[in-house]
Amino acid sequence: MLTIQTNYSLKQLNTFNIDVKAKYYAAPTSEDEILEILNDESLVGVPRFILGGGSNVLFTGDFDGIVIHPQIKGIEKIDEDENHIWLCAGAGVVWDIFVSYCVKNNWGGVENLSFIPGNVGAAPVQNIGAYGVEAKSTIDEVYGIYLENGEPFCLNNAECEFGYRDSVFKEELKGKAIITEVTFKLNKKPVYITHYGNVEEELTKNYSKVNVQNIRKAIITIRERKLPDPGKLPNAGSFFKNPIVPVEFAENLKQKYENMPLFASDKKHAKLAAGWLIEQCGWKGKRIANVGVHEHQALVLINYGGAEASELTKLAADIQQSVKEKFYVEVESEVNYV
Ligand code: EPU
Repeated sequence: MLTIQTNYSLKQLNTFNIDVKAKYYAAPTSEDEILEILNDESLVGVPRFILGGGSNVLFTGDFDGIVIHPQIKGIEKIDEDENHIWLCAGAGVVWDIFVSYCVKNNWGGVENLSFIPGNVGAAPVQNIGAYGVEAKSTIDEVYGIYLENGEPFCLNNAECEFGYRDSVFKEELKGKAIITEVTFKLNKKPVYITHYGNVEEELTKNYSKVNVQNIRKAIITIRERKLPDPGKLPNAGSFFKNPIVPVEFAENLKQKYENMPLFASDKKHAKLAAGWLIEQCGWKGKRIANVGVHEHQALVLINYGGAEASELTKLAADIQQSVKEKFYVEVESEVNYV
């Protein structure tokens, strides 16, 4: 039976640990329970917010509406051929449990995405990515319900309009859809992607064989070294996106700053490393009262304890301003302000 709670604390449900409350809160475990919420007459016109693992959100105050926190669980094999396996996972499955399940079975495609906080339902929204891989390369279909009319939908990979940390769910369907399940197409004969950063180096140094299990282990080691554990130092991973700029602009900057990291994007655009830009502005490791910039990765903002969201938004705005002044580049927030 679904219960709708009132004045519900969201402190444990966002990895920044911001102490705010939702006027209403529900954690549906099935599509029927989602429909129950959507059809509830006492909630007509009440603003809705869909919360996943809370690892990419900054609550800027109490939420005067209903927070829907899908808890649809389960991982199921739905199809298989000689080379591939199709799995369906509930939106409420913890992402890294899904990754470890695939890795244990030697199914390739998501091992580079090991140890990313959050739930399966957020993977297509954000098109989560790390170490040369994005979720879009394994997502086959996304199932959900339109909030407006309770109608179910199924979008194939192309219809999800995936981009860098972007999808249709952050654009046309923003605030309009709730994801219930995601199907993934994984490789029974994994193709290893080890070219990014120091993945190759970590693998050769510590492991005799390249396989999905060892790639997962190597990536967990790298992430633990660079990224703070939200359980100990509340944070939301990369606070900013890497800026995509015209190739010409990037090349001009590169002439001025020879050691600036630069990544290919498409023919006309290049991707800059926001972490590098922010570090150059002197922010890395800086702490201001309850908030700060991580000492090993300048893209990550931290709540050192008891921070108000406004301290984080002020820090983020100051960082954006200084990057703009020094490099004429806008760094956009990757984290959603609610
Ligand atoms: N760099 C710096 N200073 C910093 C951080 C980075 O100079 O403080 C430089 C690095 O030396 C490197 C380049 O910037 O040359 C890129 O750094 P890194 O490989 O650490 O990756 P990133 O671009 O900073 C992105 C993702 C991360 C993901 C890593 C690894 C975004 C916004 N972030 O960070 O994702 O783990 O690549 O693939 O795209 C997340 O989204 O929450 C997240 C952590």
